[in-house]
Amino acid sequence: MPNEINYLRISITDRCNLRCFYCTPWGGWKKLPAPEILRYEELLRLAGVAARVGLRKIRVTGGEPLVRRGAVEFIRNLHQVPGIAEVCLTTNGVLLPELGPELYATGLRHLNLSLDSLRRERYHRLTGGDRLSQVLAGIEAALALGFHPVKLNCVVLKDLNDDELCEFALLTRDLPLQVRFIEFMPTVDQPRWQRHFLPMAEVRRRLQALGPMEPVARAATAGPARIFRLPGFQGELGFISSVSDHHCPTCNRLRLTAAGYLRPCLFAAAELDLKGPLRQGADDAALGRLFREAISLKNSGAKPGGRDFPLPGRPMVSIGG
Ligand code: 5AD
Ligand code: SF4
Repeated sequence: MPNEINYLRISITDRCNLRCFYCTPWGGWKKLPAPEILRYEELLRLAGVAARVGLRKIRVTGGEPLVRRGAVEFIRNLHQVPGIAEVCLTTNGVLLPELGPELYATGLRHLNLSLDSLRRERYHRLTGGDRLSQVLAGIEAALALGFHPVKLNCVVLKDLNDDELCEFALLTRDLPLQVRFIEFMPTVDQPRWQRHFLPMAEVRRRLQALGPMEPVARAATAGPARIFRLPGFQGELGFISSVSDHHCPTCNRLRLTAAGYLRPCLFAAAELDLKGPLRQGADDAALGRLFREAISLKNSGAKPGGRDFPLPGRPMVSIGG
């Protein structure tokens, strides 16, 4: 049975206050001119159309979404869009100590935070920013405010952070977090990926040292993570094998880039222009057809990881993970 496509990721900016190793190209990337980026009113209208074609969960991503002026207000308004049942935010957490309370007041509860090292120097090296203490304060603030779930996304990088796997997992002993280990996807360049890719099976094997894990059930809008808990721990562990266990039929998402293109699949070049029709006065029915067309273009069979794997065609920072 084909999978229900119920989840839309919206990138609201291609700007970021960090330069993560796995996300941004070595030579920088060409930033979109402001008029090319969808305005908040445009995004809210598209969210309404998306809800009517069955996309009930929206994740706000970037770049770093919180660097765009008005992001908090936008998130508040997204909660009012009829048919949107769940709003989530992916952030690097740098601005969370500052914006946490305002964000909570919008009704937002689901937070995903990117965190790839618990060591200051290394965090600095991997992200280009000496911001670990802000991020840790942000996580603490998020838990204290009552955000739930709070998920920490850790992209596992061989020889760069794979000696910290147990430390990350042990965060779930006393904190009600979901720590998610994510396979490094070849989104920037092949040599970098080949050098630092570590398969999830190996991550799981190394965590066996912590004892047997219990599987945890998942929601219908849940992504590809497999969830477990260590007995007696408050939090959960998630494993995301985006490369080694890549499986189109379980993918439930579309992506809207900051420039207003709808991407059926991360690993296939096809993108549908929504901004053009939107700005030329297309009605909701016409926009809805574009969403349906994007859904029909899914399951392209694209596979990451092979030698001939196609890069997504543009940097992740402009797609939003
Ligand atoms: N591999 C795996 N995950 C990635 N992300 C971005 N680029 C990659 C990549 N090459 C994900 C990370 C990050 C989120 C914003 O996007 O999980 O936390
Ligand atoms: Fe989703 Fe595309 Fe990956 Fe398939 S190839 S799982 S459609 S992102």
